[in-house]
Amino acid sequence: MNIAVIGSGYVGLVVGACLAETGNTVVCADIDAAKVEKLQRNELPIYEPGLDTYVTRNQRVGRLKFTTDVAAAVAEAEVVFIAVGTPPDEDGSADLRHVLEVADQIGRHMARETVVVTKSTVPVGTAAQVAVAVGKHARFAFHVVSNPEFLKEGAAVDDFMYPDRVVLGAETDHSRSVMAELYAPFVRTGRPIIFMDIASAEVTKYAANAMLATRISFMNQMAEFCEHVGANVDHVRKGIGSDERIGPSFLFPGPGYGGSCFPKDVKALVWSARQNGITLSILEAVENTNDRQKHRVFDKLSLALHGKLTGRRIAVGGLAFKANTDDMRESPALTLVDDLLEAGAHVVAHDPVALAEAKRRLGTRVSYADQAYDAVRGADALAIMTDWNEYRHPDFAVIKQSLTQPIVVDGRNLYDSEKMLKLGFRYFSIGRGSEPTVTTLKPTPATPVGTRV
Ligand SMILES: NC(=O)c1ccc[n+]([C@@H]2O[C@H](COP(=O)([O-])OP(=O)(O)OC[C@H]3O[C@@H](n4cnc5c(N)ncnc54)[C@H](O)[C@@H]3O)[C@@H](O)[C@H]2O)c1
Repeated sequence: MNIAVIGSGYVGLVVGACLAETGNTVVCADIDAAKVEKLQRNELPIYEPGLDTYVTRNQRVGRLKFTTDVAAAVAEAEVVFIAVGTPPDEDGSADLRHVLEVADQIGRHMARETVVVTKSTVPVGTAAQVAVAVGKHARFAFHVVSNPEFLKEGAAVDDFMYPDRVVLGAETDHSRSVMAELYAPFVRTGRPIIFMDIASAEVTKYAANAMLATRISFMNQMAEFCEHVGANVDHVRKGIGSDERIGPSFLFPGPGYGGSCFPKDVKALVWSARQNGITLSILEAVENTNDRQKHRVFDKLSLALHGKLTGRRIAVGGLAFKANTDDMRESPALTLVDDLLEAGAHVVAHDPVALAEAKRRLGTRVSYADQAYDAVRGADALAIMTDWNEYRHPDFAVIKQSLTQPIVVDGRNLYDSEKMLKLGFRYFSIGRGSEPTVTTLKPTPATPVGTRV
């Protein structure tokens, strides 16, 4: 099939590369000329495991092309995916400007009967607006489809190639049969294509992200409760996650959720409900909990250093909002860095893949370490913010020797509390009641290394 994908960000690039990989002829169009030029040279603007192989292979055989010419891409295509950004507006609503601009372009330049697919995450009712925008100039029949994307950054290629399910809001026979044919190679293992009406597909995407964000905030609240009552959230997590009705995924407490999707999608859903006279109070609480959680690692550092952060050197391990990506959008690490700088601390940051992105965002406000162990040398404390594999089994002797005080605040619960104590660290993590808590303990004078505060 001839496909156009408009927008070559995380989603557009993965969709385009994976559809080319299954034999389609794909043109990816983006208005960012610098990005397109790089992609034409097989230089990827993002870090996403496995994606470079697909892009290189399919460009080489001519099944995948990158262009800034949106009009030409649309004119060649039977199916056009809209995969541009839908950033939050000031009031929290999704900004649909880019989506509707592209819809207008599709209407002007389509040269045959076309299926127009919204891949971007858009509020319910957007497909109808897309149809109006396309229809203004369209000279051929067209079919609007809502096909929300559920890929996870860091595992995006696998998620697209082997999806749990494909959701398709399609309301004509033509669009249903075209989309079923396009997705057939990805659901050969029996994963379902779930056809539904367009409004339900649009709501499904937001409901999925809102449910996942809810699980995270729920566990972060449970973690806080555990700290107060001397329980261990890791045990609680396993205890509830083994219940089939609950399941083990997305039950890890941490420094709060970030990334380009959860924060913006929860906000947009709350806003969209409000427009319809409904208050999604659960999701408002999810958001508030997350906003508070993003300051928890700072609070624990402050506790460990007796409220004296001015002039302290703090090593921050991990800047990406999660492992296996260089995406720092809404990363809790950014909140921590802001809190630390505001408190007068000096930050030395490390991340295995996000340093270039970090330098772009943070510039000279912090120092950077190319190697993880360089970050801790001479630092007063280490804060772990991203669950990178390389942080899981470090040489603790080197870390202890390098730090001026053996303080580790682990925002991801990567380490064992007992072991850290035995090694002589003052160790703080999330939701383990045997450790000192931010709210139950007042700052006390310096404590001998290796004892509980
Ligand atoms: N990132 C994710 O993990 C993820 C997962 C599922 C869904 N989504 C949704 O997919 C959409 C895209 O997200 P993303 O992370 O890929 O965004 P992104 O910001 O990484 O990429 C968007 C791209 O669209 C391009 N663009 C903007 N206007 C354009 C126009 N008029 N014509 C051509 N190109 C244009 C931009 O230059 C940019 O390269 C969003 O709605 C997002 O919510 C994202």
